Amino acid sequence: MSRIVIVSNRTPGKGPAAGGLAVALRKVLADQEGFWFGWSGKLTDDPSPEARIEDIDGLSVAQIDLTRDDHHAYYAGFSNSILWPSFHLRLDLATIESHWYEGYRRVNAQFARALKPLLKPDDIVWVHDYHLIPLATELRSLGARNRMGFYLHIPFPTADALYAIPHHAELMRDLSRYDLVGMQANRDVAAFTEFADHQAPSTFGATQAAVDIDFSGTEIAAFPIGSDPDAFARLAASPAATKMIHRMRRVLADQRLVLGVDRLDYSKGLPQRVEAYEKLLANNPRLRRTVHMLQVAPPSRDSIKEYQEIGDTLDAMCGRVMGRFAEPDWQPLTYVKRAYGQPSLAGLYRLARVGLVTPLRDGMNLVAHEFVGSQDPQDPGVLVLSRFAGAAEIFPEALQVNPFDTDETAEALRMALDMPLDERRERWGALMAAARRHNVDDWASSFLQRLSPGMASPKTSKRDILYLASVA
Ligand code: G6P
Repeated sequence: MSRIVIVSNRTPGKGPAAGGLAVALRKVLADQEGFWFGWSGKLTDDPSPEARIEDIDGLSVAQIDLTRDDHHAYYAGFSNSILWPSFHLRLDLATIESHWYEGYRRVNAQFARALKPLLKPDDIVWVHDYHLIPLATELRSLGARNRMGFYLHIPFPTADALYAIPHHAELMRDLSRYDLVGMQANRDVAAFTEFADHQAPSTFGATQAAVDIDFSGTEIAAFPIGSDPDAFARLAASPAATKMIHRMRRVLADQRLVLGVDRLDYSKGLPQRVEAYEKLLANNPRLRRTVHMLQVAPPSRDSIKEYQEIGDTLDAMCGRVMGRFAEPDWQPLTYVKRAYGQPSLAGLYRLARVGLVTPLRDGMNLVAHEFVGSQDPQDPGVLVLSRFAGAAEIFPEALQVNPFDTDETAEALRMALDMPLDERRERWGALMAAARRHNVDDWASSFLQRLSPGMASPKTSKRDILYLASVA
């Protein structure tokens, strides 16, 4: 049976993970033979060309070190100051320094040189996320003929945002070197297909030739990622979660909790969220003292100026809401800049009357799934969800909002807080059924089945593949 080789920038570590990717993929290799390959988290002047192989919590993990300069150009530079903001349609926050592309390619080539000797001919290679778009090209140039799949965890950009990215045509050509490219949502496949169908010129002007990329060997499909909602249901009733619930109940008394949990990232719409909460309190004086907002926001990528700035903005906005509404014996909100483990989060999700998941743009957003999984079926909370998260395609029964419209979000918050128990149960029942249909195990097995149809699979998934476009 073929082995599965998962490749991602970050490899699974110990301790709480701030982002969804590590949480979701940990499980894949628990059931299948293979290994995980990625960056060790270490920077050295003279990295070994060979990967170190270690056992981390029962997983075989092969890792390489990077030089400080290469890592800066590849991670903080090209990946997170160019690709991340552009793919999230925040060109205003992009820093276009095209020389970072060389470091990005160098690191992808270094990954390929260290990975190639570890590959057997029938290994299936599954590459994750925007840091590693060129990896298939680099592996194939070293002679690898394996089946290779790529999964994009973040949204795919519209054509004009894509054209703002230096070397975008090469990146699209890199995607054509995979056998299968998976995306989170229908909208992402549609954006990709639009580019692939039109292959528009990369710059304007009569003398510019159209980009000409052959996608005939690449299948593109949406595979919306999920969580393990039943595991969250169990976790939310565990002793660690119950301890968190008791601690919080002592502080909250009968105030209802409005909860946000996000990496501190400008794509998450945190200032808009706080503004919406401020409007809720301003428009509905009766709600003051009956609600409390908790925003958990562990810092992320804080070597990048735009990430420091979003932290400063949020500090100022939370201070403003406190100054405007707090009283000696009542605080409208708490803002916590640190990461919590899954059991504590499950407890917070279960306690919350409202889960506020309002990114300005997001690949999927697994917090929405985890919130749903953690609810008490007898007394569930309400999910207020951005319609620009991939999760909006999965969860039509959430209260969906335009996160840029803080009046609308404030009104959705009011509706959520006033929602009768029957309606909460009904909506949650539908959300939980959707979270179960889109669970992480079926996500992985359906991607791997599609990548390697002959492969024996633990389960044949009947889950929805929402959209399939063979781009020829
Ligand atoms: C998002 C990305 C992941 C990334 C995670 C955490 O979920 O899709 O690829 O690992 O954020 O970000 P970081 O930069 O800390 O790895």
